[in-house]
Amino acid sequence: MDYQNIIVETRGKVGLITLNRPKALNALNDALVDELVVALNGFEADEAIGCIVITGSDKAFAAGADIGMMATYDYMDVYKGDYITRNWERVKTCRKPVIAAVAGFALGGGCELAMSCDMIYAADTAKFGQPEVKLGILPGAGGTQRLPRAVGKAKAMDLCLTARMMDATEAERAGLVARIIPAEQLLEETLKAATAIAGYSLPVVMMIKESVNRSFESSLNEGLLFERRVFHSAFALEDQKEGMAAFVEKRKAQFKNK
Ligand code: HXC
Repeated sequence: MDYQNIIVETRGKVGLITLNRPKALNALNDALVDELVVALNGFEADEAIGCIVITGSDKAFAAGADIGMMATYDYMDVYKGDYITRNWERVKTCRKPVIAAVAGFALGGGCELAMSCDMIYAADTAKFGQPEVKLGILPGAGGTQRLPRAVGKAKAMDLCLTARMMDATEAERAGLVARIIPAEQLLEETLKAATAIAGYSLPVVMMIKESVNRSFESSLNEGLLFERRVFHSAFALEDQKEGMAAFVEKRKAQFKNK
């Protein structure tokens, strides 16, 4: 595919997607999101890929959905065509881990895209916010749902209702961000973590992702039961035998993803 709005590369076993609309601070239009879906489909189907990173530029991960595009839409456009929000759940449905590496602005749909990834690594320059209220709309791709789950009701309300931005330190303290990394090392450090993840057994990594995500969809007892079943199933893997044999033999495990 000839991508116009993103750059798609591989770094070893890691699939790297760079949002690339620099003149518009990586504002997310439908074409970009469609390309993102194609890239994710490709990486998910590629057996050589064990982890995916989505990043932007130094200035912006993404400054939101494209306001110029949205300004031309009316209700029937967005409802019938599912414009703006179509395909947004594709990141969530990806079965391999997806890390958002965020520098600069992650606003509106940009913050929502980062939140739909499995975790966010933030540069110390990162700024998160849901400023849709200023435009006469509301967060429409998970901002009112994922943000409170990540940072709690008080801060989510504050961010969504006042449109203020939250810096990386506040975001990390609030639980939105997994790590803060100096901006100039963001991609390198994120790729290092992604490479480590991709070096583990892919089925186990997928089971872990599925189990953690399950905790948001179930009661504690249901979640624990799910975890127990998946835990037991890991003992059917050759990689479980290899991982434990490698520990006993004091060598590095060579996982075969089966
Ligand atoms: C379209 C955008 C844009 C956006 C920035 N640009 N954000 N274009 N959609 N969301 C464009 C600007 O028009 C400008 O283009 C160029 O990028 C640089 O932006 P500046 O404003 O000049 O930069 P700066 O002064 O540094 O301010 C940065 C900023 C500001 C604070 C991020 O751009 C801003 O407030 N942007 C809008 C943020 C926002 O409201 N996001 C939520 C969108 S709604 P020109 O051509 O003038 O140089 C949303 C809904 C999601 O995301 C719901 C479902 C997906």
